[in-house]
Amino acid sequence: MTAHLPDGAALAFGSATASYQIEGATSADGRGPSIWDTFAARPGATRDGKDGSVACDSYHRYPEDVALLADLGVAYYRFSLAWPRIVPAGTGAVEPRGLGYYDRLVDTLLERGVTPTGTFYHWDLPQALEDRGGWLHRDTAYAFADYAMVAYDRLGDRVKVWATHNEPWCAAYLGYAAGVHAPGRREGGDAHRAAHHLNLGHGLAAQRLHEAGCRDVGIVHNLAPIWPEPGTPASAADGVDAVRNRVWLGPLVDGAYDDGVLRVAPVLADPELVRDGDLELVRGSADWLGVNYYTPVRPGPVVPTPQGEERHPETDAYPGVEPVTFHVREPRTHIGWEVEPAGLEELLVESHRRTGLPIMVTENGAAYADETVVDGVVRDADRIAYLDGHIAATERARAAGADVRAYIVWTLLDNFEWAEGYTKRFGIVHIDPATQDRTPKASYRWLQQRLRG
Ligand code: FCB
Repeated sequence: MTAHLPDGAALAFGSATASYQIEGATSADGRGPSIWDTFAARPGATRDGKDGSVACDSYHRYPEDVALLADLGVAYYRFSLAWPRIVPAGTGAVEPRGLGYYDRLVDTLLERGVTPTGTFYHWDLPQALEDRGGWLHRDTAYAFADYAMVAYDRLGDRVKVWATHNEPWCAAYLGYAAGVHAPGRREGGDAHRAAHHLNLGHGLAAQRLHEAGCRDVGIVHNLAPIWPEPGTPASAADGVDAVRNRVWLGPLVDGAYDDGVLRVAPVLADPELVRDGDLELVRGSADWLGVNYYTPVRPGPVVPTPQGEERHPETDAYPGVEPVTFHVREPRTHIGWEVEPAGLEELLVESHRRTGLPIMVTENGAAYADETVVDGVVRDADRIAYLDGHIAATERARAAGADVRAYIVWTLLDNFEWAEGYTKRFGIVHIDPATQDRTPKASYRWLQQRLRG
């Protein structure tokens, strides 16, 4: 049985991962290099100097990982496909062995009764495309749609629910403005070009997926509730909201970049960049919306950048906005993110009101410093409390009328956490990096009990 979007009668559950974070085997079976291979090799790019070349070795151990999902009792598994495995040079030749991996993964999931949902782009851009300008270049959007169709043609008979991009805000602004994610460029306001090309790539792919008969095309955003601290100028708070939320939802819902977006991103008024028809293509192109939520965003009063000092990377991730500070209240997780379930409730209600789309919480979870397994157990009570609080917040949003269909835990396995390397553990299953042993944590057992009764 292949399944579509959950019907929402009850909240459906799932768990999520991403290709570069778990697969490893980065040179197996003809995979081409990605921007994350290149970026992670730069000294200082990741906290522990490590990369995704081994990660959780899920490329080889996927049957074990699928068994963990099936035993957990989740209905859905959200995974991403590595573009450089399927089209190693970004455009042109297709690598059948790369497609073969996802074929086996999908079949194994279906055999075990877990519904796969695929994400085409979770940040592992083929390096060959970055060498030609990456997301700053319009051609990348067309290359993305071509690659998505290659993958869909192979898997679409069994995978019905698809997302184009994961968190394009990170791809555009952490990648091309703050430079803390691959490709590690600091292009200031030019990063808004990347945002437009990501929007365009979504629109082009969605159109072709729909033509091919796909009914459940979505996009996953890390939208955020913006909660300004006292003393924050209204224009700064608006700018943060523009870059984080409206640069994505405006095209999707209204087919336009609004005035507040154009104020901080004047390049989006350039007809050479935003061409006739681009925004119409994006408008109404999603059948569902994925919302990833971890923490609220609290902009604070604007501070002048001290002479000779680097601006805070988070400030650089909002080019064109006055240099605001960002505040984080207690309690925090191990990665330093504030725990605030009310942010998720507000975000879901607001996202549904704004888009009218069915929503899946495509990621939510927490990093805690649970390195050690004691007597075969990892006691992650903090994570259980985090998940419990956020599931309750999701249920409150549903009760308030938000059409939220699923809650998908980030993440199944402790994995490569981007710039943090392996120093932040988000998994409900512990990984021993030396042995690759997988040990379900207390949070896994807790969720299993909740799902299986
Ligand atoms: C999100 C990413 C995901 C993971 C979590 C912690 O921004 O989509 O890959 O790193 O954060």
